[in-house]
Amino acid sequence: MIKLRDMIGSDIEDYVRWFTVETEWMDWDAPWETEATTAEAERAGWTEYYEQVKELPQDAPRWKYEIELDGRHVGWVSRYYDLGYLENAEKIPAVGIDLAEPSARGRGVGTEALRQFIGYLKANGARCVYTQTWSGNAAMLRTAQKLGFVPYVRRKDLRTVRGKEYDALTLKLDLSSEE
Ligand SMILES: CC(C)(COP(=O)(O)OP(=O)(O)OC[C@H]1O[C@@H](n2cnc3c(N)ncnc32)[C@H](O)[C@@H]1OP(=O)(O)O)[C@@H](O)C(=O)NCCC(=O)NCCS
Repeated sequence: MIKLRDMIGSDIEDYVRWFTVETEWMDWDAPWETEATTAEAERAGWTEYYEQVKELPQDAPRWKYEIELDGRHVGWVSRYYDLGYLENAEKIPAVGIDLAEPSARGRGVGTEALRQFIGYLKANGARCVYTQTWSGNAAMLRTAQKLGFVPYVRRKDLRTVRGKEYDALTLKLDLSSEE
């Protein structure tokens, strides 16, 4: 079963692992953005973050949810508004996802988790959403396409990954015509 839930205390050590040791997911998510870190710095940062979100009221807007697959924490979904190379004056939410656990990938989890998160945003008033990736990320592109996202903006050769140039892509999903 695929479930979105709020963060719990035991997630902190998952994040420490995912940002220091099991970092393969970073080869796919913005690999041009890598930064040096340590387990101590990550533990302190994620503990502080957890303290901020652990007692959010039930009806407070969520910026991030943890993804659980059959009771196991495998990644997260989040929303943001700073699109980097693109203006977002209308404050349309962009959705991001990472299945940091490689064993959770390629089984429909990403598609379903994003579907649930987009449903949440729609229920809270979103009429469209963006997602951003790069032309070398076939899994994310196919996932977005399956959910109905269509190409919106392409910045040619903006990203350099492992010595090769790729396009930066923003895709858009119109929610107003959906049921
Ligand atoms: C991108 C990601 C969220 C996709 O989630 P997922 O659970 O692996 O994808 P799904 O199993 O739901 O598959 C969705 C579609 O993508 C296809 N797909 C999955 N992995 C693929 C790959 N490596 N190459 C090409 N297509 C792929 C699936 O076959 C499926 O299409 P289909 O139904 O036509 O067969 C996940 O792979 C991930 O977290 N990757 C690492 C981090 C990342 O890239 N984050 C996004 C940054 S923009």
